[in-house]
Amino acid sequence: MDKMRRVAVLGATGLVGREIIRILEQRNYPISKLIPLASPRSAGKKILFKGEEITVESVSEESFKSTDIALFSAGGSTSKKWAHVAVDSGAVVIDNSSAWRMDPNVPLVVPEVNSMDVAKHNGIIANPNCSTIQAVVALWPLHKEAGLKYVNISTYQSVAGTGIKAIEILKKESEAVLGEKDVINEGVYPHQIAFNLLPHIGTFDDDGISDEEWKMVNESRKIMHLPELRVSGITVRVPIFRCHGESVTAQFEKELAPQRAKDVLSIAAGVVVLDDCKNALYPMPITGAGEDAVYVGRIRKDTGLDNAISMWVVSDNLRKGAALNAVQIAELL
Ligand code: A2P
Repeated sequence: MDKMRRVAVLGATGLVGREIIRILEQRNYPISKLIPLASPRSAGKKILFKGEEITVESVSEESFKSTDIALFSAGGSTSKKWAHVAVDSGAVVIDNSSAWRMDPNVPLVVPEVNSMDVAKHNGIIANPNCSTIQAVVALWPLHKEAGLKYVNISTYQSVAGTGIKAIEILKKESEAVLGEKDVINEGVYPHQIAFNLLPHIGTFDDDGISDEEWKMVNESRKIMHLPELRVSGITVRVPIFRCHGESVTAQFEKELAPQRAKDVLSIAAGVVVLDDCKNALYPMPITGAGEDAVYVGRIRKDTGLDNAISMWVVSDNLRKGAALNAVQIAELL
């Protein structure tokens, strides 16, 4: 029988934290005690786990005593503050923020791609950015087939990645627009998100590249162990509640026929191919929301580059893009 573990979830009241708890239950992760943690604002709130109400605690020095695994999803600064406290208490931290991802001592893991890296951890394992996860799940099997040379990605990212506040903002702004009222910007995004597109996620460097775009470059290289891989793209926030879409163009060393790419992807771990465009079959956010797979469709020859495939990749950013990937890492442990 699996060893029972004491599991802390820091950020238990957030969108990803709640999804983590749901997935731990759905996958029947062997838990002897679940410890939901959040800020002092949430202390005393109740969460439901396996039919039982569990009280959320404010995170403290004592929170991680005799904890085996601590799943963090409470932002970068909270992670920086508490990860070593948890590790010093004997826990392995699986962190969803960007705080540790590029630290050379911290493995950055997508189980379908580099599960072996988990073994190299020194107490902290990082969960990649949502857009990177779904891209590499689709790219890795194709890389093994034909050798990746260059990848260009345009993302269509739902607001759930920003947190609970962003879900409320999209609802409010949509109601305002439909009711022909003024939209009041509450500061979550630089501009209105309802009925709009924001080519702006994170902050921009002097070259005009956003940190979300750099995450895709650096994290894909690290996960796939391809430090020289050429990666470019744009990350865009779209007025969708949940589930990201990505337009991915990948150029390979060797020729890769679209049909071969479809065949490879249709047996790849974590991937579901939905590709019959003549019958309007392709993945959409409404296909992926609430589901576990990375859905791939519109697999076709790129019309501008040699040895290149273009495809459309869809996945639930709260599940495979965050909570599910973290729980899969916990399962590897
Ligand atoms: P809280 O609800 O108490 O603020 P989201 O990204 O969906 O908004 O969720 C963020 C999560 O991170 C929430 O559970 C939030 O708790 C938690 N969190 C934010 N700041 C802190 C902090 N300083 N200490 C502990 N938990 C925090």
